[in-house]
Amino acid sequence: MGSQVVHALKELTVDITHGEFVAIMGPSGSGKSTCMHVLGCLDTPTSGEYQLDGEDVSRLGRDDLARIRRHKVGFVFQAFNLMAGATAQANVELPLLYSGEPRVERAEKAARALDAVGLADRRHHLPTQLSGGEMQRVAIARAIVNDPGIVLADEPTGALDSVTGGEIMALLDDLNGRGMTVILVTHERDVARYARRVLTFRDGRLITDEAQGRAGDAVTVNAPESGPSLE
Ligand SMILES: Nc1ncnc2c1ncn2[C@@H]1O[C@H](COP(=O)(O)OP(=O)(O)OP(=O)(O)O)[C@@H](O)[C@H]1O
Ligand SMILES: [Mg+2]
Repeated sequence: MGSQVVHALKELTVDITHGEFVAIMGPSGSGKSTCMHVLGCLDTPTSGEYQLDGEDVSRLGRDDLARIRRHKVGFVFQAFNLMAGATAQANVELPLLYSGEPRVERAEKAARALDAVGLADRRHHLPTQLSGGEMQRVAIARAIVNDPGIVLADEPTGALDSVTGGEIMALLDDLNGRGMTVILVTHERDVARYARRVLTFRDGRLITDEAQGRAGDAVTVNAPESGPSLE
């Protein structure tokens, strides 16, 4: 920032494995979004290394980063970031347009993604004709339409009431259950509880990295003596 140097992330070392469900927490300005931008290849670190699927992507140029984003990462944002003048279907087709998918396949894949988020009957609606939760579901459909291995969600429930937010989290949980790696930023404990692991940032540093049981996990009471051990 001009003559002022901002260290948005410092000495960060973290490994995330395929299929994990990770929540990133921490105060405002602690580097959560910056971390997501690096993970999603929207930004590259000034120093250090980022390996994605065994490939060092930290020194790649714009075009290579764009190619990786198209194939490997889906993004979900707090403000949904849908194209206002386009239907749900057209919004979900957009990433496929960039990856050069033919029209018929685009339409089919987008319809399938909208179906997967429970919005088959809202395909022709414009964002203004959808509720907040529905808009976020369209955004999730758009994020998964290219079948990425990773979904990155920066405060996906931040603009939603808690019931609708819970529905969005259930959807992300479902994607994780189908093998997608889900990494989300949240300020809310209740939202972070869906994850299996919580990273906490402060002043650009990772200060805690904790595994946790999830909300909704079955707790076995009166387990038979020979039964499975409690988690
Ligand atoms: N483009 C930029 N140029 C300069 N500094 C930036 C830029 N983006 C973010 N920062 C600074 O980097 C630090 C980390 O910002 P970041 O957006 O990652 O925080 P955050 O944890 O996502 O915060 P919030 O919870 O408010 O979204 C902050 O000090 C911020 O002011
Ligand atoms: Mg942020």
